[in-house]
Amino acid sequence: MAQIIDGKKLGARIKEKIHEQIPLLEQQYGRRPSLYVIIVGEDEGSLKYVTNKVKTAKTIGMDARLIALKENISESELINIIHVLNADPLVDGILVQLPLPNHINEDRVVDAIEKHKDVDGFHALNVGSLWQGTHCIAPCTPKGIIQLIKSTGIEIRGKMAVVVGRSNIVGKPVAKLLLDENATVVMAHTGTRDLRAVTLLADILVVAAGQEKLITADMVKPGAVVIDVGITRNAEGKVVGDVDFENVKEVAGYITPVPGGVGPLTIAMLMKNTMECFLCHAESSTDVSKLWATIIKARIGGSAE
Ligand code: GUN
Repeated sequence: MAQIIDGKKLGARIKEKIHEQIPLLEQQYGRRPSLYVIIVGEDEGSLKYVTNKVKTAKTIGMDARLIALKENISESELINIIHVLNADPLVDGILVQLPLPNHINEDRVVDAIEKHKDVDGFHALNVGSLWQGTHCIAPCTPKGIIQLIKSTGIEIRGKMAVVVGRSNIVGKPVAKLLLDENATVVMAHTGTRDLRAVTLLADILVVAAGQEKLITADMVKPGAVVIDVGITRNAEGKVVGDVDFENVKEVAGYITPVPGGVGPLTIAMLMKNTMECFLCHAESSTDVSKLWATIIKARIGGSAE
């Protein structure tokens, strides 16, 4: 029977660490990190997510604002708002919740965000840097997934990692982060022929396909680490993942629940990315990974993780 990876607990620990660091940063730089979250339209699920992101940022001591815009806002009006936030030196992080309504081009909106304020790591320049290995800001959910895997104590190096799903938000960036950890990475998806033959190879299985019970117990290698990124509402209105949790937990070594697995880590990593953007602005430097390591570790005594 698998050990359940407690994302809530791990996320809370990471947030607590940041919470402790914020007063020290305020002392040093005269202000707190700030996060601006933009939502367009009134999708209930998205509204819940963004409210949670803003609430969490405030709870740990950041300045945070939600900018809720009408569904029919034009792309140029939205981009103008982003330009105003880009120019404001008191704004560290900007997040535009996706998906956007069909009349708005998501790529143009994301690329309008100043790359050092792009807390999602979705800007084309940040994506390019991620793949070049010089990344500034990496996307939150993939970063959180790496933390969840590391929390098991299992070494990623040399392991066979299979990622099911190829989205820009999760599948593609998590494959790169796993590669950075020296895993052997296979990318599969719902169009993969004989998906079971591929997933059975996985020592680490990350599933982000958005399809309830896509992964059943017969598709999982005994002892594997299974990370379920799916969140869909099933016919009974219950939030479920992509993995048949009840049966897969009998085979896997470690497994994340839904909810309470990946979700809390996404938020914790958003807080971490906001801190990185803040440090980048406060120190007027663009080498964020170096800043994180030196400022947080050396001056404040926290962890660079
Ligand atoms: N929609 C679903 N996940 C995300 C995310 O991580 N960031 C943004 N901006 N939108 C999302």
